[in-house]
Amino acid sequence: MTAAAHVIGWGKYVPVRVLTNEDLASMVDTSDDWIRTRTGIAERRVAVDGETTASMATRAARQALGIAGLNPIQLDLIVVATATPDHSFPATACLVQDALGAAHAAAFDLSAGCSGFIYALSVAADLIACGAYENVLVIGAETLSRITNWGDRATCVLFGDGAGALVLQANGGDGGVLSSVLGADGSGGELLCLPAGGSREPASHRTVTEGRHYIQMKGREVFRFAARIMPQATRQVLERAGLDISDVNLIIPHQANQRIMDTATRALGVSPGMVFSNLERYGNTSAASIPVALCEAVEQGLVHRNDVVVCVGFGAGLTWGAAAIRWSVPLPQEPPSRWTQMWYRINYVYAGLRSWVRRLLRRLLALWTRE
Ligand code: ACO
Repeated sequence: MTAAAHVIGWGKYVPVRVLTNEDLASMVDTSDDWIRTRTGIAERRVAVDGETTASMATRAARQALGIAGLNPIQLDLIVVATATPDHSFPATACLVQDALGAAHAAAFDLSAGCSGFIYALSVAADLIACGAYENVLVIGAETLSRITNWGDRATCVLFGDGAGALVLQANGGDGGVLSSVLGADGSGGELLCLPAGGSREPASHRTVTEGRHYIQMKGREVFRFAARIMPQATRQVLERAGLDISDVNLIIPHQANQRIMDTATRALGVSPGMVFSNLERYGNTSAASIPVALCEAVEQGLVHRNDVVVCVGFGAGLTWGAAAIRWSVPLPQEPPSRWTQMWYRINYVYAGLRSWVRRLLRRLLALWTRE
């Protein structure tokens, strides 16, 4: 029997620093009323000094592994979807692998803008289904505040930071990831991009002074694309799973703009209560938005065993994707006992120590072998 990828753990992390619409109104020519009416956003989280995509991803991952009751050593693969990696290389997934002490896991990053998490989920589910891996950690994490132009009112009001993670496990039982669809239209690449810092426009004095290391977006065109693609991808993923919209219990859309979500809700003919939204508190956290929202939906008791949950997103590329999941673990979950939590903490201290020793040994070996 072919194994399906079942969600057995979920976790999220958002920075403690809150930036409200009023705060933004003191920085640029905008207002709480404009931002709420046009986007549905009231506040967003912004990483504090020292916080990075990898550190937030690691915190979300630890929570997800705790719920799954899985030791990081049991992980076979870590995929981090992000547009804001700590570095071009090494991959953020490798930093997370080291921080978790996931010594047997392969690790790579995946870039598909705000659709990144759906892409990562789809790839991970297919790798599980073909028997390549058993336990996979899928993370969406972003520090968009570091590529946001805080003087540009058209973009700075939209974005926020955070991370969400799912642990997927191979299981022959009913449910898990039932289907996924992914798509791309590179002709729309310029609608949403970070122009400089890559091989086309390497960092230079000019790129910095001209603000080419900040998000640039043609908002209206992205809006039109999103409003069209969200219902289309939802219908396609359901068709692929042999399901109908009436079989769906909850839709977790990418959290970009409440008006986009409302348009998709109307196009699908579902009730607004079926479409989860936490955009008001976090803004658009790109690849982190869907896993953070899914986590919150579970925490709020909106997901039950055997429910069909559809996650659907769109983003830079242009890209889009959707995944249909039949929830297979019982909810609510018992939180891990105090002893288990302590055991997890010891493991993470050990992971830090292990990483430190490996770095030290590498340095000593370099000294030893120096001519
Ligand atoms: N405060 C006040 N006024 C503003 C602000 C602001 N923050 N931003 C823009 N305006 C002004 C504009 O200057 C313009 O003024 P004008 O008419 O005098 O020229 C007016 O408001 C209307 O601007 P539009 O851009 O046409 O406003 P719109 O209603 O389209 O809303 C928005 C803009 C919110 C960006 C919307 O287009 C949108 O949400 N688009 C989708 C964006 C999105 O989803 N991006 C994420 C993609 S996912 C990823 O991969 C990161």
